[in-house]
Amino acid sequence: MVVARSVYYGDAHVLAQAGMVLTHDAIKRLDELGVASVYIREQYIPEMVEPEDVIPEKVRAETIKMVKASFGNLQNHLKLDIKRVFNKVNSIIDELLTNDDILVQLTDIRTFDDYLFAHSVNVCVLSIMTGITVHFDRIKLNELGVGALLHDIGKTKVNPDILNKPDDLNRQEFDEVKRHTNYGFEILRNYPDISLLSAHIAFQHHERWDGQGYPRGLRGEDIHEYARIVAVADVYDALLADRPYRPSYTVNQALTILERMSGVYLDPNLVTALVSNIAIYPVGSLVEISTGYIGMVMEVNKAVPTRPVIRVIVDNLGRRLTRTHMIDLSQFDTILIIKALNGEDIDKLNLREYVLV
Ligand SMILES: [Fe+2]
Repeated sequence: MVVARSVYYGDAHVLAQAGMVLTHDAIKRLDELGVASVYIREQYIPEMVEPEDVIPEKVRAETIKMVKASFGNLQNHLKLDIKRVFNKVNSIIDELLTNDDILVQLTDIRTFDDYLFAHSVNVCVLSIMTGITVHFDRIKLNELGVGALLHDIGKTKVNPDILNKPDDLNRQEFDEVKRHTNYGFEILRNYPDISLLSAHIAFQHHERWDGQGYPRGLRGEDIHEYARIVAVADVYDALLADRPYRPSYTVNQALTILERMSGVYLDPNLVTALVSNIAIYPVGSLVEISTGYIGMVMEVNKAVPTRPVIRVIVDNLGRRLTRTHMIDLSQFDTILIIKALNGEDIDKLNLREYVLV
C-alpha cells in the first residue's frame, strides 16, 4: 500500500508523506501515534484517485497549528494573537471563493490527539462554505469564519480532567462542560477587534432549532444565523470523526443522521445549504450500481452530485474485472447508484484493498 495523501500531525509536522510505502512497521508506528486511518493509493487502478481537499493541505495544517497555539495561549493566561486568526480565516475564505465548484470529500484523516483543533478548522471550512452558499458577503464570511474557528475556545476554561473523561459525565460535570459556551463568549467579547457576532457563535452554537439546546434554550431564528450555521457544521464534522469511543460514520450515514436532525436540532435550510457542498459519494468510495456492478468513484460533479464518474471494478457475479472501465453516470439516465458500500459489504466482497482505509 502506498500513502495517497500526506498525514499531518496537528502542528504541520508530516507523519507520512504521500507516495510513501506503508510497511508493517510504518503502520504500527502510525497506529501508536493514534492515526486511525490514512488514504492509500489504489494500485490496481491505472489512474490514481487523489481526493482533492477544498483548501490546500498547507493552509489546513498551518491553521490547525495556529488554533492549537491559541488554545495553549489562553490556558497559559496569554492573549490570543488576533492578527494571526484573521490572517488564517482570510486565506481560507480566499481559497473557498476561488474553488467554489469543489465538493467536500473529507473522509477525515486526523489523530485523536489534535481532534479539537482539526475539528475547529473543519467547522470553520464547512461554515464558510455554507455562508458562501447562502450568499454572505466578505464581511459576514469573516465574522462567521472567526467565530467558527474559535467556537469551542471556552473549553480552555473547563477542567481538562472533565473534558477528557472517557466515560459518562455526572450531572455536575456535564453542566461544567456546557459552560464552555458562556466562557467562550466571555473570552471573545473582550477583544475589540472581534465582532460581537463572532463571540455569539461561541455563545450559541449548542442552542437547538427546537429550543432544547443550551445555554439559554433559544429557539429558531432567535438563534443567530452564524451560530445556526456553525451548529450544522459542528454536528456533521463530529459524525465523521473517529473518536476513541466509536469509529466514524460514513458520509452516507452522517448525511442520514443530519437529515433526521434537520428541523429538530438544526435549521433545515442551513442543513440543505451545507449538504449541497458535500460529495455524497466521495472520490475513492465504492458504490453498487443498478446493473449489479461495483465501481469506485473517480470524479464528482457539483451540478449532479448523485451521478459521479465511476470505474467499474467488479461485475454482477462478484468477479473482479481485469479490464476495468469508466462510466460517467451523468451520461446514462438508466444506470443509478443503488448504494454506497459500507465496511460489511466491502468485507463480504473481499474488496478491502480497494478501500481508502
Ligand atoms: Fe461546543
